[in-house]
Amino acid sequence: MAAYDLIILNGIVVTDTAIEEYDVAIKDEKIAKVAKRGALKDAQVAKTINADGGYVMPGGVDGHVHLQEPPLFGKGSSADNYETGSRSAICGGTTTMVTFAPQKKSEDTLLDTLHATHERAKGNCYIDYSFHLLVGNPSERALSEFKTLREEGISSLKIYMTYETLQLNDGQILDVLLEARRNQITTMVHAENGEVIDWMTKQLEKRNMFAPKFHGTSHAPIAETEATYRAICLSEFMDSPILIVHVSTPPAAAHIKSAQDRGIPIYAETCPQYLFLTKADLDKPGFEGAKCVCSPPPRESEKDCDVIWDGLSNGTFTILSSDHCPFRYDDNVNGKKTCINNEYPEGHFKYIPNGIAGIETRLSLALSADRLGLKKFVELTSTNPAKLYGLYPLKGAFIEEQSDADVTIWYPPGKMQEFELKNEMLHHNVDYTPFEGRTLKQWPRYTILRGKVVWDKENGGLLGEKGYGKFIKREASSLAKPRNNGEWDIYADGSFGCS
Ligand SMILES: *[C@@H]1O[C@H](CO)[C@@H](O)[C@H](O)[C@H]1NC(C)=O
Repeated sequence: MAAYDLIILNGIVVTDTAIEEYDVAIKDEKIAKVAKRGALKDAQVAKTINADGGYVMPGGVDGHVHLQEPPLFGKGSSADNYETGSRSAICGGTTTMVTFAPQKKSEDTLLDTLHATHERAKGNCYIDYSFHLLVGNPSERALSEFKTLREEGISSLKIYMTYETLQLNDGQILDVLLEARRNQITTMVHAENGEVIDWMTKQLEKRNMFAPKFHGTSHAPIAETEATYRAICLSEFMDSPILIVHVSTPPAAAHIKSAQDRGIPIYAETCPQYLFLTKADLDKPGFEGAKCVCSPPPRESEKDCDVIWDGLSNGTFTILSSDHCPFRYDDNVNGKKTCINNEYPEGHFKYIPNGIAGIETRLSLALSADRLGLKKFVELTSTNPAKLYGLYPLKGAFIEEQSDADVTIWYPPGKMQEFELKNEMLHHNVDYTPFEGRTLKQWPRYTILRGKVVWDKENGGLLGEKGYGKFIKREASSLAKPRNNGEWDIYADGSFGCS
């Protein structure tokens, strides 16, 4: 029998398509064999792990992570760098992340942006990683670089319909969608109408309403609903696939579902903040609410959360990501409290850095909630992000000799004592978690990255090392594809579309 580096025994293997009592053998950083429980008992092996009946899943893939970005949205700067963010990820069962390489409006090249981001990440990551190019300025030059981006292993980018410093107009969005389509690049869209938000902000200021909760008011649901529908129309017009990031409102989700039902290549993401947080979290006394300020904001009530949960179960959402975008709370230089000054002694919602931490808690929150089937959970948090972003079957799967041996092993169902989440348990560089006090009943017992145990909850905790995580060159998406093959063009008779 073959010799293996590591065998995981007595687990319940869960993938997006199967739940089976299987043992898993690993060799040379790859999944070498997945076989019926007991079938590998005579194999020669250097090391075994007894999963004790716990779930054995492909490692988490987080498709939406902000780390160590230059200030783009005004005040504040990210609390996590590549080292602390990826360390936090691995302790929560995530083995691959796709972070952003952000281009500023004042820059006209994307390749410099990509190289600068490589420099920040190189040698600092505990987990495998890639980048989405964040396009702030779709200049002629930037558009002409899409081809080279693909050669460098980048197959997705992100654009914004809001934020003064990043917002693209509809013509610019069409430029991006056309060029993305030509190069088999998936475009992620932050869909909120920036002008509606600015208008609401001014209305609130006139009324001297500055508290954190008014962040939620300023980001009125119609800003998201309208921009989502507009993004869908622009995507359909160009026949260029898009992924709408961090969807939070039921009407936006309904627009997405109806576009999908018509066969348009529209994909969607949601995040734990839209499943677990509501307006009540923004409305905590004093400045506390700032801890949950992110965009879009947590919505009205648990009913909204229920609709988003439904969308996860019924296929409206393709992926569940963290949108990890951490700022410290008690920090008036880089954190949430930068918005407190002489003019606004209690702060001003408009200046609260937008974003919350969640890379370490994404999987445990969703699994503990017990509202998705196990296969669906793996699909949304690992397999689909891998497929969508051109990482499959290297990541997000247990395919013999093809998939990297990235594994998250959980406790056997019912074995773990329920506990309250506390920030002190986490490994990020943030002084709070927006999910403080939530009851959890699962946490990864082991995380394995390319065959190496990097997290062992009961024996040493974090065992990984920074620098073991490597950059992964990505292929075109195996999920998001245009409906037609030909070039988009305008023809002599005045018609337009794909030939
Ligand atoms: C699926 O979920 C979405 C919302 O997330 C909802 O709009 C839609 O009605 C649901 N569809 C079905 C068939 O349940």
